[in-house]
Amino acid sequence: MQSVFKELEDWNAELRAQFPIITASPELAYLDSAATAQKPRAVLDAVRTYLTTANANAGRGSYPWANRTTALVAQARERVAAFLGDPAPDRSAVHFVSGASEGLRTVARDWLTEHLTAGDEIIVPFADHQANAQPWLEAQRLLAAQGVRVTVREMPYQASSHDYDPARLAELVGERTAFVAATHVHHVYGGDLNVHRIRQAVGPSVPICLDAAQSVGHLPVDVGTLDVDFVVFSGHKAMALPGIGAIWARNTRGPEFAPGGWAGTPNTSGIVSLVAALDWLDAAAPARIERWTVALAARLTDGLRRLPGYELLGCQLSLAVDSPVQQRHGIVSFRRHGTSANDLGFVLSTHGFLVRADSHCQARAGEQEDSVRVSLHVYNTPEEIDRLLGVLDAL
Ligand code: ALA
Repeated sequence: MQSVFKELEDWNAELRAQFPIITASPELAYLDSAATAQKPRAVLDAVRTYLTTANANAGRGSYPWANRTTALVAQARERVAAFLGDPAPDRSAVHFVSGASEGLRTVARDWLTEHLTAGDEIIVPFADHQANAQPWLEAQRLLAAQGVRVTVREMPYQASSHDYDPARLAELVGERTAFVAATHVHHVYGGDLNVHRIRQAVGPSVPICLDAAQSVGHLPVDVGTLDVDFVVFSGHKAMALPGIGAIWARNTRGPEFAPGGWAGTPNTSGIVSLVAALDWLDAAAPARIERWTVALAARLTDGLRRLPGYELLGCQLSLAVDSPVQQRHGIVSFRRHGTSANDLGFVLSTHGFLVRADSHCQARAGEQEDSVRVSLHVYNTPEEIDRLLGVLDAL
């Protein structure tokens, strides 16, 4: 682990210096990137340049600013497909939405309801984010109102780690399984939920929709190797502005993804920010970001496990960076016995640590008790982790 920090120390310092909000407040440690990531100067500059030189509506008007905006929206679709390693962009589609929540609802309302027929079954991860549970139940209700009954089954989890359980998932899958909703990286436990095993368990023909809100920008998300049908993510967690996100649809299983309704004016400045953020992330290298945040999470996990009075949520196995079972991607959640998560979050904020402390919007099979969540990104440092552990130890 030490060697990752040594090897990437200069890289981290150079990138960290590109975040004005981070450098302006060196006394604070921003540890809430799973809620929203901070923005590098390149993203802020791109938005400012667009709004001060070419701001116009897209797909309407034929003057230069409007043409430029129309072109940049089209190019942004290509940029998203390229960022995701799309091997066949001519056959897939990219659709802009406000974020992952709206994206998952759009897949549910505009695609799943077209795809399912009476008696079909879908599998939904009820210990993941609400945003990846509610839309599928809504689709079930919409279909029921039309007299089409579909069954929602619960994605099985392994109790010890909160990973999906591929063996039980394989047993759940039957002839009527028509759709599986899954998550790439869990927003509370930080685990990579191993999409390859999900595909193996469900077989080659069932469409899978992947909530990639906590993975895009944190690790390579490559649809050339991930055999999923939809990837949905929020821009703001990938260093773009809030209010922009994307759905990537492979369009090879089931009906073509063609969101309905009149979309109105696109969030053009959001789209500009997304392109700048993806450029920035590619230059920083998602594989390197992954190594850095995994190493930080392992440092925190290992430190926390040595502190008496703390309970770590999720995988308890070795999380050392070189361990074959290492899975935690920059998200570590925990509780302190005898102190509410809310109080602990408040105390940490008085020490300059900005964390999330609540139930984290987990769906109905989630944790019954609140927790503190530390979520890391490329601008965090091992010194911040050590300071945090020191404060937690002293409480
Ligand atoms: N979904 C975001 C989180 O987990 C907001 O904090």
